Amino acid sequence: MTGKGPEENTNKTERKMIVDQAEKLRLMMRETRKAAHILAITSGKGGVGKSNVAVNLALCLMATRRNVLLIDADLGLANLDVLLNVRSRYTLAHVVEGKRRIDQVIQHGPGGVKLICGASGLTGMTELTDFQRQGLIHDLTLLEQQNDYIIIDTGAGISKNVLSFCEAAHQTLVVTTGEPTSITDAYAMIKKLVQGCSGTKISLLVNMAESRVEARKVYQRISAAAKRFLSAVVYDAGYILRDEHVIESVIQTEPLVLAYPRCQASYCFLALAGKLGRSAGAQGEQAGFFRKVVNWFF
Ligand SMILES: Nc1ncnc2c1ncn2[C@@H]1O[C@H](COP(=O)(O)OP(=O)(O)O)[C@@H](O)[C@H]1O
Ligand SMILES: [Mg+2]
Repeated sequence: MTGKGPEENTNKTERKMIVDQAEKLRLMMRETRKAAHILAITSGKGGVGKSNVAVNLALCLMATRRNVLLIDADLGLANLDVLLNVRSRYTLAHVVEGKRRIDQVIQHGPGGVKLICGASGLTGMTELTDFQRQGLIHDLTLLEQQNDYIIIDTGAGISKNVLSFCEAAHQTLVVTTGEPTSITDAYAMIKKLVQGCSGTKISLLVNMAESRVEARKVYQRISAAAKRFLSAVVYDAGYILRDEHVIESVIQTEPLVLAYPRCQASYCFLALAGKLGRSAGAQGEQAGFFRKVVNWFF
């Protein structure tokens, strides 16, 4: 009789454990495969330059051969289509309503940038059926895998919609100017984001800065307050100088970095894209952002 000895049984158990471990690792790798870096652009106060930042940053990233998708989630003042001079019949609202598939609402703008236009109809997302919700989650998850960056223009002010996009993003760029009211509102936004405990990396961008020194002072003021009163780190995304060419480009409905690539503000956007590219590349993002966002709406 050749009965199995205790040694053989142990080997069998060990082999099974190794196979199980390998399977677990495979599953983990599938779940943690690289996905788009999700960047939300927000501000406390309106009119500080978020949409221009979103558009020009996207174009600078495109220039480095990255795939970029812009989403206009400013439900009140959706205007990325105007800045990019893109006509769009369909928006994210049509997807939610089941009238269009997500790939049918992606527009192609100048420089090859992709855009999903926003609409106030998005507030109807709260009334999704389970079926619609699952469909949207599936669609948006696909977008994470197809892009290097997804940039979301969230609109201004503290609201559930704005916060939900920011809190679920890998990084939130809070835009402020040097005006005291803008600084106060930016700090209030940062406070809300910190209280949300989402783990989004918060960076501050000073737009319409008169100088590097002025921008630095604004950053130091806000980051010091965040450290002292919120125990939070606010990263320095740098600054965009005040430049009349930005106003000109808006009037011409041609993005600044395409219309005036050699002006001061365009150089600032290039520097911002370089900085962002380095910090985003170091992370290796996980998929699942939109799953989090959609969950927020219910
Ligand atoms: N760096 C800048 N220099 C000069 N003017 C700027 C700059 N950035 C923005 N602006 C002006 O501010 C206006 C509002 O910008 P916008 O991007 O629409 O702000 P937001 O999206 O925050 O409401 C622009 O139309 C432009 O006239
Ligand atoms: Mg805007």
